[in-house]
Formats: sequence, structure tokens, C-alpha cells
Amino acid sequence: MSNATLALLITAAILAQVAVLGLLGWRRKRAQLRVLQRQAQDAAVGAAVLIGGPERDQGLDPAPLAQDIPAPAWPGHREFVVQRRVIEDGNGAVCSFYLAPADGQPLPTYRPGQYLTFKLEVPDPAGGPPKALVRCYSLSDRPRTDYYRVSIKRVPPPPGRPDLPPGVVSNHFHDQLKEGARVWARAPSGHFYVTQDSPLPVVLIGGGIGITPLLSILNTLSRRADPRQVWLFYGVRNGAEQIMREHLKTLSEGWPGLHLQCCYAAPDADDLLGRDYQHQGYVDLQLLQRTLGFGRHEFYVCGPPAMMESLVPTLEAQGVPTADIHYESFGPASLNKRPVPVPTTRAAAMAVRFSRSGKTVPWDGAAASLLELAEGQGITVDSGCRAGSCGTCETRIESGTVAYSQTPDADIQPGHCLLCIATPTADLTLAL
Ligand SMILES: Cc1cc2nc3c(=O)[nH]c(=O)nc-3n(C[C@H](O)[C@H](O)[C@H](O)COP(=O)(O)OP(=O)(O)OC[C@H]3O[C@@H](n4cnc5c(N)ncnc54)[C@H](O)[C@@H]3O)c2cc1C
Ligand code: FES
Repeated sequence: MSNATLALLITAAILAQVAVLGLLGWRRKRAQLRVLQRQAQDAAVGAAVLIGGPERDQGLDPAPLAQDIPAPAWPGHREFVVQRRVIEDGNGAVCSFYLAPADGQPLPTYRPGQYLTFKLEVPDPAGGPPKALVRCYSLSDRPRTDYYRVSIKRVPPPPGRPDLPPGVVSNHFHDQLKEGARVWARAPSGHFYVTQDSPLPVVLIGGGIGITPLLSILNTLSRRADPRQVWLFYGVRNGAEQIMREHLKTLSEGWPGLHLQCCYAAPDADDLLGRDYQHQGYVDLQLLQRTLGFGRHEFYVCGPPAMMESLVPTLEAQGVPTADIHYESFGPASLNKRPVPVPTTRAAAMAVRFSRSGKTVPWDGAAASLLELAEGQGITVDSGCRAGSCGTCETRIESGTVAYSQTPDADIQPGHCLLCIATPTADLTLAL
């Protein structure tokens, strides 16, 4: 090779390097610019709130975090109108419901990650009188003053049991609650939420429909241009099951601090690794270790029982402080975060008395909870979530004590207990 050719090649290589560096710098600048634009929007929002008052604040809530907001919002149930419905996934199984307050008054803020507890009158398919049913649904967007949003998955019969009816309330929402329909809900509640007092990077881990409270957290942090690094591990079967795909993509493109990690357990032929998802398989410890590296993180986990039961204890076993692991399950899970052991030697000796029904039953530990024990005796108890969230099964204790299999989410009046997650620790008398 002649000297002239060599010089030409070296010059070309230098020019190519400069071009690549320039391109990378431009992309970084563009990302920073987007963050600044978001911050400017937020500043403008703050100004609008100050100048215009509540009527100009419609939909522009600056999304305060936990310590900024006052105690729960309204007593009893508030009426909402279904303003808009949006199907969020390729399977058509998840629908978002935008709920506007029927009284037109601005909605109070909430802690991102909290849920609404609905009471619905659902027609009896057998032609009997409608049944009042209670269910919880997580708020899936950042706090706003003009509407709340919940995203609900249609629940089919359990696998291999087509003879059983599908989920009553989720299907009622999908099939019956069209735009203009009315629903009643308690004020936002729950203890699974993100706070702003931690400097730790935030790791959100969602499985299936368990993504909903994490979306609220994510949208709030984005809106605030939160300086923390945020990781979202989102486990689904495939692209058709993933919800809000475009929204997540747009968020991650404009937010350098967000690291989106979609995990498809069984990708479809048209799901593309790198474009649609980042990992094939489940969200597990190896993936977290590989992706997060060292250092403390604050974990927020919400998913199906199998995910919760494998991930949460594994994180604890790896030495993640309990205070850095927050989790919520959408139904009865055998996961006990802070179990209060029931002394098994005394179990046979304990008795549960249902004072109004006049029944006394020995507690032998066969029932999973006091709710199951009562139902097994034919005692009618109102229940909803069966997971300590909705408060429907709250019952007065006349004497004795109970332990909880998981931390109750619903607030409990003094002298009462939540039967669905309680077991006796001594002889017990319940006002039932
Ligand atoms: C705090 C919290 C937040 C939540 N957030 C969300 C959310 O954001 N989005 C969401 O979609 N869900 C959420 N959920 C779950 C939701 O509350 C409901 O549990 C879910 O929608 C199922 O209710 P359903 O009335 O449709 O089903 P149910 O009628 O309660 O039925 C549940 C299952 O039991 C089956 N079944 C029916 N009869 C029998 C029988 N005889 N024997 C055995 N099985 C039977 C049904 O086929 C169905 O598979 C949340 C739950 C909690 C506790
Ligand atoms: S049934 Fe919801 S708290 Fe017990």
C-alpha cells in the first residue's frame, strides 16, 4: 500500500470517528433537551395552578408524591361517569376506563401506586336480584384533577375449568360499562406507593396486569422529571399481552433515566428481540443482577402469585433490606412479608366463637383464614378482594387476638380485624 493510500485511509477513519462521536453527542443533547422541555412544561403547569386556580388546573396536576398530600379524600362512595374506554393490548383483554367525577368537582390527588375500591350492582345471570360486589382496581395514571384511570383485565375461568363462570366484575366492566355509565368508588387507598424521600434508584417490577400501579408511579416520576434512575422490568407472555406498548416506548425514548426492560416468556413469531422486548424469559434474580449491577435500589413489585412468591423472598435472601422492597398482590397470595407465627402447639386448643350466629368452632389451622372458617360454617360474610385491601370483611373482635398473614392494606378501625387475612392467636369471639 502506498503512503498516499495509507494517509487517505487514516484520514477517512478519523473522519468516521468524529462523525460517530458527533452523532452520539447530538443524541445525548436531544435527550437532555427533552428532559428540559418536560421540566419547563411542569414549571408552566405550576404557574397555571397559581394564576388560574382550580378551574384552570383541569388535568394539569403537578403530581405531588406521598408527603405533599393530605389524608384521605372523601367519606363513603363517590359517583363517577365513564368518560372514555381504551383497549390497551393486542388481545383486547385489558381496557382502560377514564372516570370523571359526576359532581364535576376537581379530584383530589393520591399516592401513585394506590387503588380505588368499587362497589357495583351486578345483575344475577340466573335472574335473581342484582348482587352488590366490591373489587379493587389500581389507579394506572398519574394523579390528575379531571379524571382517574383504571385499567382492567378481563378474567377468564381458571385454566382447565371452562365449566366455571368467568370473573364477574372484570367482565361486567368490559361488557356493560360503556361510555356514560356510572360507577361508585371509595377514595384512593393502599400502602404500595412511591415516595420522594429516597435517593435510591427505583426498580419497578411488574408481571401481567400487575403493571397498573407501576404505570401510575412511572407516569408520575416522568411528569416530575424525577432525577432518580428508574428501571422497569415488565414480564408478559408476548407482545399481544403487553399493554400500553407505544406509551412505554415514547416514555423511554424521551427519558434517559428510564431503562425499559420488557421480558417476553413466549414471544410470538412477529415479536422482535431488541425492538419489542429486551429479554426472553421471566423476570428473575439473574436478570436483575445482570442488569442492575451493584448498589442499593428500591424495589416495587406487583405481579401474579408465582412471580411474587419467587422474587420477593429471593431479593430478601440476597440481603436487600426489607424496607427497600415494596410489593402488592392482586389477590390472595401465600407470600408473607412479615408473618406473625401462629403457635401450632396451641392451635388445637383455640376456639373461635361467632357470637351472633351462636356457633363455636375449634381452630385447627385447616382453614386459611377466619373468613374461610366462617364461610365453612355457612355464616354469611361480605367480602371483596380477599387480600386485605378493600376492607369489606372488617369485623369487630369482642375478645381475643388475631395475627395477619400479610400486612393489611385497608385501614382497620380499633378493635376490628380483616377476616380474609387473619388467623386467631388466642381464643376469639367475633361479632358475627
Ligand atoms: C389492591 C388491588 C388492586 C388491583 N388492581 C387491579 C388492576 O389494576 N387491574 C385488574 O385487572 N385487576 C386488579 N385487581 C384484581 C381485581 O380486584 C379482581 O380481583 C379481578 O378483576 C377479578 O375479579 P372478578 O370479579 O372479575 O373475578 P371473580 O368473579 O372474583 O372470579 C375470580 C376467578 O374465580 C373463578 N371462579 C368463578 N367461580 C368459581 C368457583 N366456583 N370455583 C373456583 N373458581 C371460580 C373465575 O372464573 C375467575 O377466574 C386488583 C386487586 C387488588 C386487591
Ligand atoms: S375481603 Fe377485602 S379486606 Fe377482606
